[in-house]
Amino acid sequence: MVSYKELGLVNTREMFAKAIKGGYAIPAFNFNNMEQLQAIIKAAAETKSPVILQVSKGARNYANQTLLRYMAQGAVEYAKELGWEKPQIVLHLDHGDSFELCKSCVDFGFSSVMIDASSLPYEENIALTKKVVEYAHQYDVTVEAELGVLAGVEDEVASAVSHYTKPEEVVDFATRTGCDSLAISIGTSHGAYKFTPEQCTRDPKTGKLVPPPLAFDVLDAVMEQLPGFPIVLHGSSSVPQEYVDMINSLGGKLPDAIGIPEEQLRKAAKSAVCKINIDSDSRLAFTAAVRKVLTEKPGEFDPRKYCGVARDFMEELYKHKIIDVLGSDGKA
Ligand code: G3H
Ligand code: 13P
Ligand code: ZN
Repeated sequence: MVSYKELGLVNTREMFAKAIKGGYAIPAFNFNNMEQLQAIIKAAAETKSPVILQVSKGARNYANQTLLRYMAQGAVEYAKELGWEKPQIVLHLDHGDSFELCKSCVDFGFSSVMIDASSLPYEENIALTKKVVEYAHQYDVTVEAELGVLAGVEDEVASAVSHYTKPEEVVDFATRTGCDSLAISIGTSHGAYKFTPEQCTRDPKTGKLVPPPLAFDVLDAVMEQLPGFPIVLHGSSSVPQEYVDMINSLGGKLPDAIGIPEEQLRKAAKSAVCKINIDSDSRLAFTAAVRKVLTEKPGEFDPRKYCGVARDFMEELYKHKIIDVLGSDGKA
């Protein structure tokens, strides 16, 4: 059993309380490799932003959970080396799907876990979430739960709406599970294809696709039911067109990739939404950089040359999210 406190990590409790009061959100960035982690830490250290490092099941399969945990531990020391005296860094399990997985992360030094039982029937979601909360809280590890199902890009508009979080359930769910934060569904979704072109309208001036707005009425109703309770948004990449265009012009194929407009995320960050998850945008930045370097210098075969540029692209992206979208700069 390793306590995250020994590793210099923090849980989300105080961080979220401050974010709600201050009208900003904490960035939750997924990491799978060293370059992503370096870019996240540099961006957070330079902007003095609290940050959540997220490890998904896919990341564990790709990079190994042990290695990722030690990398996060190293990240705390790296942050100090960069001059960030008291780094505010959370190591979080993203989309945990079983009690055993959440327990193993708690035991292994994670400071926060998500139990995502949102696809289970309501009572089963409550029972599993409660079990994780009871275990995690013994070690002061915070727990994120999810209610409502994020729409997939294949979903019909009508069925997407019916997956939104039901505001009338949130008090019962939060009270009975004891969770520390709640991920809700208000129209975001994972990946780089959040809406079909049919779900969008076209800007007559630019010809670009404009996605339908997030369901702020659902968010407002949730906040009314649970005043001051930490709310989380998954699937919050904005899919920057500059990266998509760069990738497509350099031999890639990402037709009609579309994300959540940043103004809407900015608006959400000012509310009780205190954690915003971003993964796909970092993947796009990485891919755009690699395609650019390898196109411009076809003879390059040193991975440091293209991964290094990818790291720079991601650092710039993370700083932009922190400063211009989430407003968490200077808060740590
Ligand atoms: O929630 C999804 C995250 O973007 C993680 O994705 O499971 O492919 O690592 P992944
Ligand atoms: P994106 O795919 O929009 O980056 O969402 C990431 C996420 O929600 C991780 O849990
Ligand atoms: Zn997610």
